[in-house]
Amino acid sequence: MTKSKKLTHLEYKKRLIKIWNEVAPRYHERWAKYDIGPFRSSSELVKLADIRPGHMVLDLACGTGAITKRIAAKVGSSGTVVGVDSSISAIKIAKKEINNKTNLDFVLSDAEFIKFNKKFDVVTCQYALFFFPKAGKVLRNIKQYLKKNGTLALTLHGNKDTVPYFSSILDVVEKFIPDYVPQGTPNLDRFGTSSNLKKTISASGFTDIRILEYTFTYRPGTFSDYWQNYLKYLAKPLKEKIKTLSAEQRGKMKDQIKQNTLPYTKKSGQIVFPWKILILTAKKP
Ligand SMILES: C[S@@+](CC[C@H](N)C(=O)[O-])C[C@H]1O[C@@H](n2cnc3c(N)ncnc32)[C@H](O)[C@@H]1O
Repeated sequence: MTKSKKLTHLEYKKRLIKIWNEVAPRYHERWAKYDIGPFRSSSELVKLADIRPGHMVLDLACGTGAITKRIAAKVGSSGTVVGVDSSISAIKIAKKEINNKTNLDFVLSDAEFIKFNKKFDVVTCQYALFFFPKAGKVLRNIKQYLKKNGTLALTLHGNKDTVPYFSSILDVVEKFIPDYVPQGTPNLDRFGTSSNLKKTISASGFTDIRILEYTFTYRPGTFSDYWQNYLKYLAKPLKEKIKTLSAEQRGKMKDQIKQNTLPYTKKSGQIVFPWKILILTAKKP
């Protein structure tokens, strides 16, 4: 593939599956396993989704089970949770992590094409809607598997200006490596404001849309910790692209990233990032 080639829909999806299969164990260890920074959303989402004992819940793009395990505890033995993800490696971790398996089922599938012969009380989806190139299609597809008056509950990152953990690095790296995020990748920022998010959910036929905005805090350590951990947990294809830079370019890039973090750096040298997230709930009419 040449550097500037635009990925087709299918190529984007295949690349994403490969990335998540490779990165899932590190993602779990770094983020999903803990209730830190943005992952304080996990308990909030499960609370707002109004999940009750006996409910049938679909956790779309369940990943390594960050919220699936909480939902399983809430629905109890009379309920069921189905976790769906397109990464086998993420599902394997989720299965291993969750001890009580009696009310759990996992399905390896693309959210766009998932089919069920049952209907759910609640559909949850945390930190994944922006990855779906045809998000509207996914939403309309899952709507048919929600019971009447069933709840859709989503968590999204705020747009990039409100999540400097991402933008401090990405704004600079994309200047040094223009195809760092390949063409054909959907704009991962597009649901980062309440108005854009609401428009998509409403256009997909959901009603009673409520969006709560939170600003959590994330402490990645010193700048050196932040940068080293970013590289350590990064997906392989992105690591490879960074490796193509000369030592001088890497040095310049790192300096510019450091500049971006200064507004969030305390006298002690520790960075404290704000991290905006949105939690949406809506109903199937
Ligand atoms: C950031 S992780 C979120 C996982 C989990 N919900 C959490 O809160 O930790 C995004 C997940 O979306 C999954 N994903 C991306 N595109 C998908 C698709 N089209 N269908 C199903 N899962 C998808 C990835 O495999 C990955 O596990």
